[in-house]
Amino acid sequence: MNSNQAFYYRNEQLFVEDIAINDIAKQITTPFYCYSSRAITDNFIQYQQAFAKQDTLICYAVKANSNQAILTTLAKLGAGADVVSLGEIKRALTANIPANKIVFSGVAKTAEEIEFALKQNIFQFNIESEPELEQISTIATRLNKIAAVSFRINPDVNANTHAKITTGKAENKFGIPIDKARNIYKKAASLPNIKIQGVDVHIGSQLTEITPFKEAFAKVAELVNALNSDGHTISVIDIGGGLGIEYQANESIPKVTEYAELAYQQLASLKCKIIVEPGRSIVGNAGVLVSKVVYVKKGEQRQFLILDAGMNDMIRPSMYDAYHDIIRVKNSPNSSEQTYDIVGPVCETGDTFAKARKIATCQQDDLVAIKSCGAYGAVMSSAYNTRLPATEIMINQNQWCVIKDRPSYEEYINADKIPAWLE
Ligand code: LLP
Repeated sequence: MNSNQAFYYRNEQLFVEDIAINDIAKQITTPFYCYSSRAITDNFIQYQQAFAKQDTLICYAVKANSNQAILTTLAKLGAGADVVSLGEIKRALTANIPANKIVFSGVAKTAEEIEFALKQNIFQFNIESEPELEQISTIATRLNKIAAVSFRINPDVNANTHAKITTGKAENKFGIPIDKARNIYKKAASLPNIKIQGVDVHIGSQLTEITPFKEAFAKVAELVNALNSDGHTISVIDIGGGLGIEYQANESIPKVTEYAELAYQQLASLKCKIIVEPGRSIVGNAGVLVSKVVYVKKGEQRQFLILDAGMNDMIRPSMYDAYHDIIRVKNSPNSSEQTYDIVGPVCETGDTFAKARKIATCQQDDLVAIKSCGAYGAVMSSAYNTRLPATEIMINQNQWCVIKDRPSYEEYINADKIPAWLE
């Protein structure tokens, strides 16, 4: 079952697996995130099958959606984790992802994070700078541990994606410039308690073309050969994440099979273990944000559909001008359509999900689903305007479960503390 099969209309109602969203909305308040367990599972299995030809560890990029129910679903399928903080390591371990399947990425790993990761014996650190290398060596020496490391190489390729999510250009803050790579490996080899094991690359997110991957993998292959001839033993190649998903119907996105085949063609001869760190392509199309129309407001020039979900719940359109399909939960085949600016309730002009979008005519209290919100949706939410983050639920065939509750207002407000001098 792919994501399109997990989300479908039956009797004019939007279903997720075997459950009508409308039935859930009668029991919990909107807005809520709704994920399909099947879609997540199938997306992960697609990766496993596509990469089966080479020794590959699929390390789900926890940042895309770190809910424990999602991590546990993936852990049971054998997933590893790509983490970028102490919190994400703790989440992965709590979901029973073994430490030897965890890779630690991120540009600013702190001493506390490094120490914790070393004590857990994680699979590897993806190092991003020379000071970080020195810090890891010092801490590992103090703890009498060996840190297995890769360096994240910045290959200077253009990922042709949104500027805010491109990472592999020379001007980006990420990684070690490829022409400096051999020097840093040399330095690493001279430092105590460091075991060089890999090369890592991640050039950006929501890539919709295969060519940038091809360029990046070619540069990595060349570097691995050079490093081996320098006397290092490179046994791991981490190819990062970044494969895009369809946000609009008929977008042409490379298939996982094509991506895996490319990795095989370009890297198999190096006889390394491959790590792949997909986030969005595992969960993105496996989740929707369900929201209710609070008002339909006719402005001077435009008609506004004002939802009870806002930019605090899902920031991608405000932050990246991202396109998300928005559909009415009840779908009458003969329904008329109207053009709306679809906005949230937050006091910011940027709180806009879509401009001049034609969708089925909506009335007050109608439910809509904002599609493709499984990745970088809930995890990027905030309580701006003291709007409590949306509930999250997961559907598995004919069962559903709240996987994250909204906090109560009391809990949320009482987290603030009043200084004694005000009492
Ligand atoms: N590995 C590393 C080192 C990463 O930085 C990322 C994402 C991934 C893997 C997973 O990439 P994916 O397969 O999900 O494309 N908030 C943005 C996306 C930021 C991506 C950050 N890094 C958005 O909503 O589009």
